[in-house]
Amino acid sequence: MGRKLVAGNWKMNGTNADLKEIEALGIAWAAPRVDIVVCPPATLVSRMAFSLGGQPIRVGGQDCHAAASGAHTGDISAEMLKEAGARYVIVGHSERRADHHETDDMVRAKAEAAHKAGLTAIICLGESLDQREAGEALDVVSGQLAASLPEGATAANTVVAYEPIWAIGTGKVPSTEQIAELHGALRAKLVERFGEDAKGIRLLYGGSVKPDNAAEIFAVENVDGALVGGASLKSTDFSPIISALE
Ligand code: G3P
Repeated sequence: MGRKLVAGNWKMNGTNADLKEIEALGIAWAAPRVDIVVCPPATLVSRMAFSLGGQPIRVGGQDCHAAASGAHTGDISAEMLKEAGARYVIVGHSERRADHHETDDMVRAKAEAAHKAGLTAIICLGESLDQREAGEALDVVSGQLAASLPEGATAANTVVAYEPIWAIGTGKVPSTEQIAELHGALRAKLVERFGEDAKGIRLLYGGSVKPDNAAEIFAVENVDGALVGGASLKSTDFSPIISALE
């Protein structure tokens, strides 16, 4: 198993003034024992990468197009993110699946584009509240895993984030038993499909991770870190979450 990973997803938040949060993070985490990634809006990727300089905190995009270039107004390719200084890119976040009608096939194509550009893809999966209440969570998330991960997924180029939609931004968190069940099933399916290497594919939990629940979540088997939304915006919230994983 490689190093654990905490990734912050700033979503559509953040202006130049917020780069001070990254500077504070850089000072606090000059030699972290876990991998740290911050995914700001596309407008800040380049500046954030520049201000981090040689520090060990990595920058990621929040989405990429499946094509390398072309007539796709408003979109950004994985190559462009790489050139701007990103090392990671989130694909298939539930907000993009909902707002932009992204299907598993589209997410898989984006992950392939990320791999081709040399980025690590953070591929998001997660069930809705209705699906959870209907007892379909495991089937839904397993289906997303099978269809959203490209053939070439490895521990080096792929991270999987399980984010139950009903836990995102709501303050509701699944029980540790529910997280353990999902992550255990995802690990088994990854190993079944990709072999032993998949034991090293990092499985992140996402959805209302906060400084006060992070340690409990990180103690669950097969949880290799977190994808954090709201609590990644301020270094004073994000730092204790990183500490809980260290
Ligand atoms: O991608 C992270 C995310 O969807 C979780 O958001 O605000 O519940 O931590 P939040």
